[in-house]
Amino acid sequence: LGLDAELYYVRNDLISHYALSFNLLVPSETNFLHFTWHAKSKVEYKLGFQVDNFVAMDMPQVNISVQGEVPRTLSAVFRVELSCTGKVDSEVMILMQLNLTVNSSKNFTVLNFKRRKMCYKKFEEVKTSALDKNTSRTIYDPVHATPTTSTRVFYISVGVCCAVIFLVAIILAVLHLHSMKRIELDDSISASSSSQGLSQPSTQTTQYLRADTPNNATPITSSSGYPTLRIEKNDLRSVTLLEAKAKVKDIAISRERITLKDVLQEGTFGRIFHGILLDEKDPNKEKQTFVKTVKDQASEIQVTMMLTESCKLRGLHHRNLLPITHVCIEEGEKPMVILPYMNWGNLKLFLRQCKLVEANNPQAISQQDLVHMAIQIACGMSYLARREVIHKDLAARNCVIDDTLQVKITDNALSRDLFPMDYHCLGDNENRPVRWMALESLVNNEFSSASDVWAFGVTLWELMTLGQTPYVDIDPFEMAAYLKDGYRIAQPINCPDELFAVMACCWALDPEERPKFQQLVQCLTESMQPWSLCL
Ligand SMILES: *[C@@H]1O[C@H](CO)[C@@H](O)[C@H](O)[C@H]1NC(C)=O
Ligand SMILES: *[C@@H]1O[C@H](CO)[C@@H](O)[C@H](O)[C@H]1NC(C)=O
Ligand SMILES: *[C@@H]1O[C@H](CO)[C@@H](O)[C@H](O)[C@H]1NC(C)=O
Ligand SMILES: *[C@@H]1O[C@H](CO)[C@@H](O)[C@H](O)[C@H]1NC(C)=O
Repeated sequence: LGLDAELYYVRNDLISHYALSFNLLVPSETNFLHFTWHAKSKVEYKLGFQVDNFVAMDMPQVNISVQGEVPRTLSAVFRVELSCTGKVDSEVMILMQLNLTVNSSKNFTVLNFKRRKMCYKKFEEVKTSALDKNTSRTIYDPVHATPTTSTRVFYISVGVCCAVIFLVAIILAVLHLHSMKRIELDDSISASSSSQGLSQPSTQTTQYLRADTPNNATPITSSSGYPTLRIEKNDLRSVTLLEAKAKVKDIAISRERITLKDVLQEGTFGRIFHGILLDEKDPNKEKQTFVKTVKDQASEIQVTMMLTESCKLRGLHHRNLLPITHVCIEEGEKPMVILPYMNWGNLKLFLRQCKLVEANNPQAISQQDLVHMAIQIACGMSYLARREVIHKDLAARNCVIDDTLQVKITDNALSRDLFPMDYHCLGDNENRPVRWMALESLVNNEFSSASDVWAFGVTLWELMTLGQTPYVDIDPFEMAAYLKDGYRIAQPINCPDELFAVMACCWALDPEERPKFQQLVQCLTESMQPWSLCL
């Protein structure tokens, strides 16, 4: 992955289905993978492999037996060899299956590790006969060929001529630029003097003066009026952990009522578990939940942020919102935040999964489904806007989905840790979802329902691209200047013009000009039938 990090598949008896869900790409020059494992008690294993293309890759080899006991020594390592045959060019899917049995019970746990690797054809077979090879060299390879003296002289003189022409061209170009600059300078002086007399708007003067500002290479930032992105400190920082805990005391439950199952998502300090919540009165009734929590090494600020941000949608009731229901804040344990379960999990990860599946099965998810998801998000946001709640971080990563394709918006607690690529620090210590932010939020730290509409436009784009990163080529530091210059994300392939027009409206520079969520709901609903222009 290019990351210097550890990825745990099983830890403390918990399986990270999130980690197992990655289909990691093995670089084509990597032939060995190493896995570290160790068990605290007796665990038997069976190991097997599947490869989808035996012409391109040999059966993977391991340096342990395919059946046995998981070592109990710490940091035992086994090695898997994935070598290409070199016969064809092909991407090969590799499945490593590890069946684990605890204490010889009949039950076993199946872990599937997916990898893919690009195999390339080796070009050794091409060297037909030695004679052919030698002849082709003398004809095509000027380095190995030995030109006669006369041709050598010819090449040298041509080279010298080219160099002279090139030099002359450069000198002429430099002289020309100099004279241009002088003319522009004169212009700017006359423009500024005339502007004083005629009291023209000063913007014109600044535009002309741009030519002789020393920082000519980046005229956008130097002339755009606002020097650097100045953003106020987030008020979250001023809340202490005790205050954050006090605010959620009324929804606190005892730790015994929560059972943690799989890890669904894991970051550097945050984790989301699939959990089971026992009913208060009848312990046989259980409810599935998401449990957001932090690892032991999380700092107090991180814990406070999680608790505070989890409360963003607290107390709101709408079928497209997923607010916090409970917390566990017992002494000596890391706080846990409990939300109702949605069985297909995070929307962004779901979309990315669809993209992988789409390669083999184009019908996996239809555009109608995606628009339907967008409508649900717009409905939830419309409700928030009516309640005068500003979300400030609407994005696919902060939505969840279930198997009926119902989508709910949730808070952004832990998102910075779980989706670090979607947040950036712009010089201060604040991590912001820069690529989802409206210009006025970026520049003036102003948030409103209209800036949520902007983020909705980006979320719609994420839906249509199945979870791509918006403005992926743009430096986060350049975003404000880029937006101010009128640039936006491009229309996704296969996205109908009508739908792109909806996104583009959300990105109007003037917040007043952006549509309201209620209008977006209507417009998208009408577009669900045959595509029709509605703005
Ligand atoms: C693991 O268990 C599955 C399910 O019973 C079985 O299909 C598979 O062959 C087993 N794999 C190995 C390596 O034994
Ligand atoms: C398998 O190979 C790895 C790396 O070469 C080595 O560290 C490990 O000890 C080997 N395991 C066994 C069981 O030979
Ligand atoms: C075996 O699996 C069943 C259901 O999947 C479970 O109820 C039972 O506790 C498991 N037994 C052991 C020894 O893990
Ligand atoms: C081809 O060239 C190699 C050296 O590059 C030489 O050893 C060999 O004898 C040559 N073969 C023929 C058929 O000329």
